[in-house]
Amino acid sequence: MATASPLLPLTFLPSKISASTSTPQRTSLPSIDHKLVISGGRPISGHVPISGSKNSALAVLAGTLCCSSGPVALRGVPNLLDTRTMADVLRSIGARVEAEDRDVLVVDTSDVGVTEPCSEKIGRIRAGFFVLGPLVARFGKAEVAMPGGCRIGLRPVDLYIKGLEALGAVAEDEKVCVYGANGKGLVGGSFHLDYPSVGATETFVMAASMADGVSVLTNAAMEPEVADLTKFLIACGACIEGAGTSTLVITGRKKLYGAEFTILPDRIEAGTFMAAAAITRSCISLSPVIPPHVARMTEKLTEAGCKITQIGPSALEVSAVPEVTGGDLQAFNIKTLPYPGFATDLQAQCMALLTTCVGSSIIEESVFENRMHHVEELKKLGADIKVVGNTAFIGGTKPGRIALTGGRVRAADLRGGAALVLAGMAASGITEVENIAQIDRGYERFEEKLLLLGADVKRETEAAVSNLHPVLLA
Ligand code: EPZ
Repeated sequence: MATASPLLPLTFLPSKISASTSTPQRTSLPSIDHKLVISGGRPISGHVPISGSKNSALAVLAGTLCCSSGPVALRGVPNLLDTRTMADVLRSIGARVEAEDRDVLVVDTSDVGVTEPCSEKIGRIRAGFFVLGPLVARFGKAEVAMPGGCRIGLRPVDLYIKGLEALGAVAEDEKVCVYGANGKGLVGGSFHLDYPSVGATETFVMAASMADGVSVLTNAAMEPEVADLTKFLIACGACIEGAGTSTLVITGRKKLYGAEFTILPDRIEAGTFMAAAAITRSCISLSPVIPPHVARMTEKLTEAGCKITQIGPSALEVSAVPEVTGGDLQAFNIKTLPYPGFATDLQAQCMALLTTCVGSSIIEESVFENRMHHVEELKKLGADIKVVGNTAFIGGTKPGRIALTGGRVRAADLRGGAALVLAGMAASGITEVENIAQIDRGYERFEEKLLLLGADVKRETEAAVSNLHPVLLA
């Protein structure tokens, strides 16, 4: 898990914090808009510590509902808007969620008795919906509002429901109300996923872990976060075979117990910092990272001309300095796919990078149908991008020419927001990225880590606009 970093400890507080101190506090629901002001065109260097995985932590937090006896102690839960919201979802049904110390979060769901979590909280994050499976399996009934999260597609939940129905559940109408078989728990069953959905796989695995009998899930998602959740459930006494593969065999247990567990490192945060090194033509190191989890990103950056070196069991060095690349990076093409294909959560960051590469490139987004909100914003910085359906054609740049110029842009979602910050770091002049609450949802201490690497980035509140550089006010 993340090596001790020089960054100040952040405690995992419940989500209502006032924003009174002089420097902008990281509130749970920023009532004041924050933006990042970036002075670009400069290299970065040094080492960046990678936090625990957001998407694994969210699933494991939902998974604590499977543990009806004894607390769970989690290490490496990143302190993010989304994980704090998930903690509130659990508290809304009676769970105890407390930070024991700087890095241990204790979750005790033994007293949970309510099966209708706070819909306002569920409405803020996709993963809030992951509690449906464990609640139905444990209490024979659950009523969960439709989830929120990044607006990157329709994001239906039909596969979640079909999976639970395969375990004997009965579902009713829009506000998803699911009853267990004969109003009791669930029974073992087989289910084939039409699409290897991460959330639907995680929901099925949690529910089947407490169902009566054996369940088989085929075409399951194989993302490392899914395997991490499976590992967590096994640590709590579940019986699951095939973790990390597309076929999972789960023998239900009447009871699962509390356990200690460490969340795996965030491969998407790691990939984002790898892109930061490439787009600023720099050399940095990062850890902890599990190299196979960023294999596709490593391949693409190597294709562009970067040098990626494993410098330790869980440490990588990424170099895109002119001595390594000969000055320019070359274009490459991407098609996003379920794991182990190229991660859709790194698509936007690579698009920003490709606007600075020599030659044209193509990005096909095949996982989500509406995940190109960052395109119009990148074009405001001078990028040459055309979108047809789910495919983006990126014009790139000429040898030795900086493609981007600073400007004012807005984050529409989490990964798109990170991509705009990277673009601002490569652009000449000043870039202002608004609505960074989107970034706070999924990156722990993002700008502090960038500052650690020597980037010129600072967080400002909306009110500070007036004293910005005249270029921006033009
Ligand atoms: C998880 O979302 C991640 N979120 C996403 O990360 C990630 O992009 C995605 O997996 C793919 O890797 C969390 O883990 C909290 P899916 P999830 O179900 O589970 C369709 C980030 O930036 N589908 O695998 O919602 C769906 O519409 C976030 O950190 C159905 O049709 O993804 C989509 O097109 C963004 N019916 C596709 O499957 C269903 O019932 C993939 O979705 C479920 C999904």
